[in-house]
Amino acid sequence: MASNQGTGDSNIKERLANTMVGFLGGGRMAQAMARGFISSGLVRARNIIVSDKSEEMLDQLEGIGVRTTMDNREVVTNSDLVVVAVKPHIVKPVLQEVNQVVSPDKQLFVSIAAGVTIKSMEQDLPEGTRVVRVMPNVPALVQAGASVMSPGTHAALGDAQLVQELLKTIGICEESPETLLDAVTGVSGSGPAYAFAAIESLADGGVKMGLPRGLAIKLAAQTLLGAAKMVLDTGKHPGELKDEVCSPGGTTINAMHVLEKQGFRGTLIDAVEAATLKAKELGAKSAQK
Ligand SMILES: NC(=O)c1ccc[n+]([C@@H]2O[C@H](COP(=O)([O-])OP(=O)(O)OC[C@H]3O[C@@H](n4cnc5c(N)ncnc54)[C@H](OP(=O)(O)O)[C@@H]3O)[C@@H](O)[C@H]2O)c1
Repeated sequence: MASNQGTGDSNIKERLANTMVGFLGGGRMAQAMARGFISSGLVRARNIIVSDKSEEMLDQLEGIGVRTTMDNREVVTNSDLVVVAVKPHIVKPVLQEVNQVVSPDKQLFVSIAAGVTIKSMEQDLPEGTRVVRVMPNVPALVQAGASVMSPGTHAALGDAQLVQELLKTIGICEESPETLLDAVTGVSGSGPAYAFAAIESLADGGVKMGLPRGLAIKLAAQTLLGAAKMVLDTGKHPGELKDEVCSPGGTTINAMHVLEKQGFRGTLIDAVEAATLKAKELGAKSAQK
């Protein structure tokens, strides 16, 4: 892999073109990421190698043109950037299994495992290994994910930029200190579930008022998508956009009044707090193991 100090966009693209990317675990997230990397043109399919224990997963992966193996060590030996994409409780044994074939000068490790800390990853890898921890979310499966990444102790600026560039192929990617990742889990990690529930409830309202189910779901989903796009595209505060939709004495302000009386905003704030606290608790438990 080229120098990890590069900063320019073209420098990163050039570095990525020469980067062998490995995935430990070839499940849903790994497949979404591999697809994003390939379709962006940043990484060639033949430069990607994936390991998994399930033949079915490996067959699916071969369908997108990447190399596959059942041997985790083979992935690490052949990669410059290794994405750790197994379930969180498997991370430790997998890192211990590959530890002997890691060269801190060669591989950069990128973990997407929820709740697995940078410290515990660094402890399970040889001294000086570069690690970046990422919290993606499920819309990455449709290239509309929201990821946040935190560089580890030995990761260089160029490593963080490289990972960010790759993650942008499956949505947006922001950087934050690791201490904020539990709150990120509360907002964007668990957030798709709140949005799915909101879409379902809006559709139920539509059905109650006489709309066919299919139409109601389509309208509700497109409405959340459109509203989200307006927030992102205009850069306006969501409160300002809400005010613009509420005409005096109109339908929307009446509906907003009902939502306020029922504690809509307070409920969402409580939900984010509950998910964040649970993520903290699970992280503390896994650090004790
Ligand atoms: N899905 C999400 O929305 C999401 C969001 C944020 C973070 N993440 C994180 O992403 C990671 C992967 O999640 P996922 O949804 O992609 O899970 P997944 O679909 O279950 O993929 C994990 C894959 O790893 C395989 N595996 C198990 N043991 C292995 C081993 N020792 N060596 C190599 N491969 C092994 C599994 O095979 P078997 O099925 O045969 O065990 C499975 O195919 C998790 O750590 C999760 O916390 C996921």
